[in-house]
Amino acid sequence: MWTILTSICTYKIELEPILRMNSIKPDPRLIPRFNIDYYTGDFLSSMLHLEKKPDVDKITNLFADVSINYTNSGRTSLYIILKALNLPENSNIGVSLYTCPSDFDAIIHAGHNPVFIDIEPDNYTLDPQDLNKKIDDLAAVVVVHALGRPADLEGILKVAGDKPVIEDCAHALLSRYKGMLVGTIATAGFFSFRTGKYISAGEGGMITTNDLQLASNIENEIEKLQLPSITDEIKHATITYARSLLYHRPWFGLFSLPLGSRIEDKIDIMNKRSFSKTKIRNTDLHVITKKIKDFQGKVDKTRDNSLYLIEQLKGLDLILPFERSETYCNYFLFPIQFKNISVRDNLSEELRKAGFDTVMLFSATPEIAKLSYGYEGDCLATENVAKRLLVMPNHYTLRKKELDKICNIIKNCI
Ligand SMILES: Cc1ncc(COP(=O)(O)O)c(C=O)c1O
Repeated sequence: MWTILTSICTYKIELEPILRMNSIKPDPRLIPRFNIDYYTGDFLSSMLHLEKKPDVDKITNLFADVSINYTNSGRTSLYIILKALNLPENSNIGVSLYTCPSDFDAIIHAGHNPVFIDIEPDNYTLDPQDLNKKIDDLAAVVVVHALGRPADLEGILKVAGDKPVIEDCAHALLSRYKGMLVGTIATAGFFSFRTGKYISAGEGGMITTNDLQLASNIENEIEKLQLPSITDEIKHATITYARSLLYHRPWFGLFSLPLGSRIEDKIDIMNKRSFSKTKIRNTDLHVITKKIKDFQGKVDKTRDNSLYLIEQLKGLDLILPFERSETYCNYFLFPIQFKNISVRDNLSEELRKAGFDTVMLFSATPEIAKLSYGYEGDCLATENVAKRLLVMPNHYTLRKKELDKICNIIKNCI
């Protein structure tokens, strides 16, 4: 009880300044952009399995022939991979600018420097041509399969040559490139199961690699991390549950959104810039193994919703997502790019008034990278996209009549 109260109080205190700036009217109908896939049953069953080793067979079978390791988060996983690569200290690591700044933190925590690479504006993923201009100064490259969209791995691996390439699959569980699961193609990959990702477990990170020597180094690095205590497990699962309640109807529209300006901020509310590196928690791994069983069905439904939105919106003056040939996109997020910033901002407002939350994903990353990570302003496609992109609700829980309503509002605003 105490943990729930502290969680809610911390939440409130952190959001106080935003509340003053924001005048969003409380609306219990509001559908969150992110589907927080964590419910009472998840909380209770993780509590019942506090000390039981989770059965990871489903995951191991899915990623057959690949070494798998776990940590407490995606950012810790990237940190561990970079440590395990034994690169010289202060190496330059290329990373797509269109991503979560926690990637930059992981690079810095591992003792290296992020070097920002631009994106291909139609796919939101690392541009091999920009990489080619910068590759000589880099020791390794982090490729983000942003929004669940597989990057041009063939082009990137060709430019990278012998240099290690790490796949950031935080959004891309089950996405495929030329038939292969992303995360199994380059030197190593990592996934995130933080609340708000396709599988919301609270936290949790997974590392994949085909390289046996690297896998052994990764295991050694993970051994150096602390094992979370039982008290930490209980506290963490309780906070995760409290947070998931706040992101479902009616509390999301009544309380969470009016108190915050963007879901991104709210999802990270107690993890912002935090970088605690531990082994994975039993409670998180338990939820991940439980959810992975029917995960493909959820991806199928989200894909159906996304393809329906594309069909209904085609022909309008906006840039819709599409699947490149030989790729399979899990459609974790559904981005629309607008020619005009004010159209995007107006649409976001209209959708919210009609009960649909949207998010301008990573819109602040170029600015944050300039202020805090030494970005010098040479990734123009990313900057342009960050100002024009809006992520729509498309998750598997949405019904056709809700999708139709979203489409009608878009048609009226364009
Ligand atoms: C693209 C991307 N990469 C990496 C991460 C880091 O994962 P985690 O939050 O589990 O550390 C996130 C999200 O938070 C992300 O969105």
